[in-house]
Amino acid sequence: MPIKLVTTAADLRSESARLLMNKPGTSQGLVPTMGALHEGHAQLARTAVEKNDVVVASIFVNPLQFGDAVDLDRYPRTLDADLALLESEGVDLAFAPSVQEVYPGGEPLVRVTAGPLGEKWEGASRPGHFDGALTVVAKLLHYGIPGTGLPPSGAFATSGAPSAGIPGLPAYRAYFGQKDAQQLALVRRMVADLNFPVDIVGVPTVRSADGLALSSRNRFLSDEQRDAALVLSRALRLLEQRANLHEPLDLESAQALVASQPLVELDYFEVVDQGTLEPLAENCRETPFRGDALAIIAAKVGPVRLIDNLPLSS
Ligand code: PAF
Repeated sequence: MPIKLVTTAADLRSESARLLMNKPGTSQGLVPTMGALHEGHAQLARTAVEKNDVVVASIFVNPLQFGDAVDLDRYPRTLDADLALLESEGVDLAFAPSVQEVYPGGEPLVRVTAGPLGEKWEGASRPGHFDGALTVVAKLLHYGIPGTGLPPSGAFATSGAPSAGIPGLPAYRAYFGQKDAQQLALVRRMVADLNFPVDIVGVPTVRSADGLALSSRNRFLSDEQRDAALVLSRALRLLEQRANLHEPLDLESAQALVASQPLVELDYFEVVDQGTLEPLAENCRETPFRGDALAIIAAKVGPVRLIDNLPLSS
């Protein structure tokens, strides 16, 4: 079916209602994006389409999460290609609102505050970024609540499957990439702490054959910088191998591997708890690794800041 593009919240509600009425109508998935879509986003869309009767993808470059106006202007806008990719994955509706639609009164006075979890790692070098990201995610999650444009309840079936959705309304799931691990952890906390009626689904990172995690920013890397950037995923894999063998992770030697690459300016490389993102120092040095953790890394390569991570389990 051709994808339908809507640009207002009112049209999103009525179109989603129309689709839910015409299908079995038991669940809706939301895939929030900022456009410039690549295979990583395709994977999010694919996962959502597999599990839901109706899938909405939002495309909105959110000014609130950019510290720098130049970065905001430079962010690639590729709407036609994005719509083609979403359509090929079977997404039903694309919601591409204007800034005026999302922030009709200008920048909102009241915002979501990410708190201490939003101040470390990525938050340390991008002050306010996660407040801006969570604020728009909160709005997108509200826009995407299924069934609000439908006639009074009872008009459609519900799946009966356990869901955080509103009882009597279709199940509601939203899909985020594991690549942005800190964003995913914060969205999970926001939804749990503030009782949003949605299940958050984390989707594993998609990599190119040589290991580089896909990102809209990779297009700004020269060939030489791209080669150098491979050290990030190599260092993460080294930790994964050690975890799988129940060896000490010896994070310092993996950090040294990254530092040996002159084109890579390491910001952080740590092993942390998956939920709180607090460092797990005791697991990293002499003691054999046991348990679950997340190895996270960020570095500047030429003009581009890259992030990556890998779950560890032993
Ligand atoms: O990950 C992104 O693309 C953005 O941060 C999101 C979740 C769409 C919010 O603007």
